[in-house]
Formats: sequence, C-alpha cells, structure tokens
Amino acid sequence: WVKTNFSSKLAGKKVLVTAGGTSEPIDPVRYIGNRSSGKMGIALAEAARDQGAEVTLIYGHITVQLPSGVKLVSVETSEEMEKAVLNAFPKMDALIMAAAVADWRSEKPSAEKIKKKSGQTKLDLALVKTNDILQKVSQLKKEGQIVIGFAAETQDLLTNAQKKLKAKGADYIVANDVSKGVFGSDEDQVIILSQKRKNTTWPRMTKTEIAQKLVSELLSDL
Ligand code: CTP
Ligand code: CA
Repeated sequence: WVKTNFSSKLAGKKVLVTAGGTSEPIDPVRYIGNRSSGKMGIALAEAARDQGAEVTLIYGHITVQLPSGVKLVSVETSEEMEKAVLNAFPKMDALIMAAAVADWRSEKPSAEKIKKKSGQTKLDLALVKTNDILQKVSQLKKEGQIVIGFAAETQDLLTNAQKKLKAKGADYIVANDVSKGVFGSDEDQVIILSQKRKNTTWPRMTKTEIAQKLVSELLSDL
C-alpha cells in the first residue's frame, strides 16, 4: 500500500501557474535576474495536475526540472510573462502567480554589448518599472475565478503581505519570509492571507507539501 496524493477533485478545471524568475536584458549578454529557483511554482503545477486539473505552466528562469503532464510555456522577460498570462487567463478557473517577476527592467537595453571605456569606474543604468501582472489579472477576474499571489518579504512580513493583498486584489496572498534560506531550499514556512477568511500560519513543511495543501485548500471552492 502506497499513499498517493492523486485525486480527481479538480477534474475539468483549468489551472494556470507561473514559476521561476524573469530575466530583463541589459545588452545581448547580460540581464537582470533574481534568485528564484521555480521550485514552489513547479510543485504547485504538479499538485494541481495530481488533483486532476488541466495545468498550464508559464515559466521563466528555473533551476529545477520541468514537470510532465502539463502544458509548458517558456518566457524570458516580465513583458513576455504578462502577455502569456493575460492571453491564457480568460479560459482559466484559477491562477497561481508564484513567479518572481522583475520589478525593474532596463529602460533601453543596448543592441550591442556594453563595453568598458578606458578609465571608466561607474556605469549608470536607467531602470523603469514593469507592469504588475497579478494586479492586472485581478482586475480582469470574473465570478468563480480564483487568483492566488505570493508575497516575498525580508521584514514586516504580515504588514507588507496585508498591503499586497489589498493593493493587488488577489483572493489569497501566500506570504513567506525569504530572509532565511528559502531560495533553492526544499522547505518553506508560509502565512495564508485571504480577502474573506482569517490569516492562517502553516508550520514549516517541504515546498511539495505546501503546494499540495495550497491546491487542496485554496482551490476547493472551484
Ligand atoms: N508580481 C507580478 N508582477 C510584478 C511583480 C510582482 O505579478 N511586476 C506578483 C508576484 O508574482 C507575486 C506578487 O506579485 O505573486 C508579489 O510579488 P512581490 O515581489 O512579493 O511583491 P511586489 O508587489 O513586487 O512588491 P516588492 O517586491 O516591492 O515587495
Ligand atoms: Ca517584487
């Protein structure tokens, strides 16, 4: 007897998941990236798949293996991720926005490799804000669709996550403290903030366990 987490609870439901970090080009050989491994997003895609959902995974830069049995869409920049998410979202029952989307991109990526000039000791790089995909999607949300976002914080976790829940309009924000070895780790500890219910603090668990619990509990209304 082997305990499995397979079920058909989400049969017939379409779930969109984003994972990994976006990369914003500076020039043809350099980019602005982040420390996201994609582990949580990929675990979420697998959990939704194992509970019977039809899953689409939109992923940026990741350091772990891609899942099987889900539709895969690869993107590089936040702009590409935004287009892919906005294109897919109308047909979805739920979106889980686990990707680490860059907040800033180079205002004018150079077409050629940026060369050092002799004696140069400083480089100014103008950055402009990217669009907030989660906020945009939440505004497009129709009755019955569920939108889940994350909040990665290194300080004032609850206060900052509460602000994000309000500002972005997602149904849920999964808050995690990224100051203590979360990136690339197999474990995490999260607090679930909801528009309707009280906050709940979950114990430290593996990302796989968190993903299964998130899908079971937060998508149970689908
Ligand atoms: N997010 C997004 N589009 C962006 C930035 C973030 O959709 N341009 C999403 C992330 O995928 C995540 C949530 O918003 O689900 C919160 O991301 P986070 O980086 O924690 O918060 P920000 O709103 O970007 O604020 P800050 O980084 O300044 O804390
Ligand atoms: Ca951010």
